[in-house]
Amino acid sequence: MVLETRGITKRFGSMYALQDVSLSIRSGEFHALVGENGAGKSTLIKILGGIYPAGGGEIRWRGEPAAISNPRRSMELGIRVIHQDRNLVPSFSAVENVYLGLGYEKRGLRIDWRKMRSRVSLLMDEMGIHVPLETAARDLSPSQRTQVEIIRSMMTQCGLLVLDEPTASLTAEESDQLFAVLKKVRNRGAAVLYVSHRLDEVMALSDRISILRNGRLIDTLEGELKCLSGNTVPGKTGALKNRIISLMTGDPESAGGRRVERSRPFGDCLLEISGLSSRDGLVKDVNLCLRSGEILGLFGLGGSGRTETLECIYGIREKAGGLIRLLGKNYPRPSARMSLNRGMALISEDRRGRGLIPVLSVKENTVISVLNRYSRLGYMDDRAQEQDTLKQIGALSIKTSGPLQRVEELSGGNQQKVVFAKALMSSPRVILCDDPTQAVDIKTRQEIHVLLRELAEQGSGVIFVSPDLRELLEAADTIQIISRGRSGKRFENGGIGAEEVLSLCYAD
Ligand SMILES: Nc1ncnc2c1ncn2[C@@H]1O[C@H](COP(=O)(O)OP(=O)(O)OP(=O)(O)O)[C@@H](O)[C@H]1O
Ligand SMILES: [Mg+2]
Repeated sequence: MVLETRGITKRFGSMYALQDVSLSIRSGEFHALVGENGAGKSTLIKILGGIYPAGGGEIRWRGEPAAISNPRRSMELGIRVIHQDRNLVPSFSAVENVYLGLGYEKRGLRIDWRKMRSRVSLLMDEMGIHVPLETAARDLSPSQRTQVEIIRSMMTQCGLLVLDEPTASLTAEESDQLFAVLKKVRNRGAAVLYVSHRLDEVMALSDRISILRNGRLIDTLEGELKCLSGNTVPGKTGALKNRIISLMTGDPESAGGRRVERSRPFGDCLLEISGLSSRDGLVKDVNLCLRSGEILGLFGLGGSGRTETLECIYGIREKAGGLIRLLGKNYPRPSARMSLNRGMALISEDRRGRGLIPVLSVKENTVISVLNRYSRLGYMDDRAQEQDTLKQIGALSIKTSGPLQRVEELSGGNQQKVVFAKALMSSPRVILCDDPTQAVDIKTRQEIHVLLRELAEQGSGVIFVSPDLRELLEAADTIQIISRGRSGKRFENGGIGAEEVLSLCYAD
């Protein structure tokens, strides 16, 4: 046993985030931790990483009691944690980030950059990772950022690598790469504990799966997974998945994976894009049309320009050329403020960078873009703001102590719901969503699909970007392929399989 927790408890105010959690991690195992949004996964991980002290209980490391009072102590034991919101310095290069907290290599009094670069690139080669060493972290893709953190973890002896949702915004291909790297981590003798909402991936890769619900450890599955290995009967995987979901939700009937059907024909074109390109060249030639009542799934592989296209339409990435018509009017120079006023909202992929202000409350974040609506003769109508926020909290079942709680205190998935609440406040006709269900649990994911469908039924149009093709096939009416900054084939989503769509992406 490399790590064992015994009866760990953690309270925030009067609320228990963890209650009597006893979890064991064996050396060299792949252990998954699953649970609904707000179940306590990140809290447990933060305790292992020395960020929060446990409120009660005991932690044992390689059989001995260990007090993990701060992050340094956790490091010394050999625990490495990659948190849900990645911890890189945006302006630092990959090499600088890898060396954060390690002490730079020196030759005499000077920093020996050459030695640092060569150590990092050697380790990267060994792990099969290829990240440009001089690029600033802010310009790396989510998958590359995770890889930089893994390299940082591996620079010194590591007994347990903990990853909080490492695959949240990765495409299937990028996840596969990541898991290949994690296998190498394991071959070096470390155990891996990781959190994921992607149950198919969890079932395929883990040796054991632990399930948290409302702060309690409900079960750890092992034998069931052994039965799966080498088993090709899909029914068996499906049955286990349903079992995991019902353990997570406490609900014997599991939801998830249902397609949400549309009941009305498409209406007018709400957003028409032709020949769109961005100043930085990442968007080259995008053409598309979004109709009222339509959920348009925009799919491309990592680096295809899907996110950049949305940013360019919305006006947070500089447009170079092309035509945008929004609700029948030309929209030559988009900007975030104007887009909102004209009925277009963006739910951004990067909830911390562009979506939310963590130190402000749920209420302040929710109403921030429509504040002028609440001004009465120079005063702000606080009660109306609070009531509108309460409505959104109810509609999206946001787990929070109330409108005044700071957003940074919410679990990752619940923060994502606040991003949604904020976008819906402006009653947009055109909704651009970039990976809107990242970090949300499987039940909420279905709820978000239903919500988007309702908005479409009321006459809005939705462009839905997701790295997860299966999700798009569940949610979208139409699929538009995008590849290397150019729009490709477009087709109705009916009876087409994931393999076919992928082959179209690789076609050119
Ligand atoms: N600093 C904090 N102050 C107050 N409450 C907190 C704090 N951190 C977490 N919580 C609460 O503890 C509960 C568990 O949160 P945690 O982040 O561990 O959930 P999670 O399982 O990681 O969920 P997700 O899948 O959404 O990331 C939540 O209800 C959250 O609001
Ligand atoms: Mg979390």
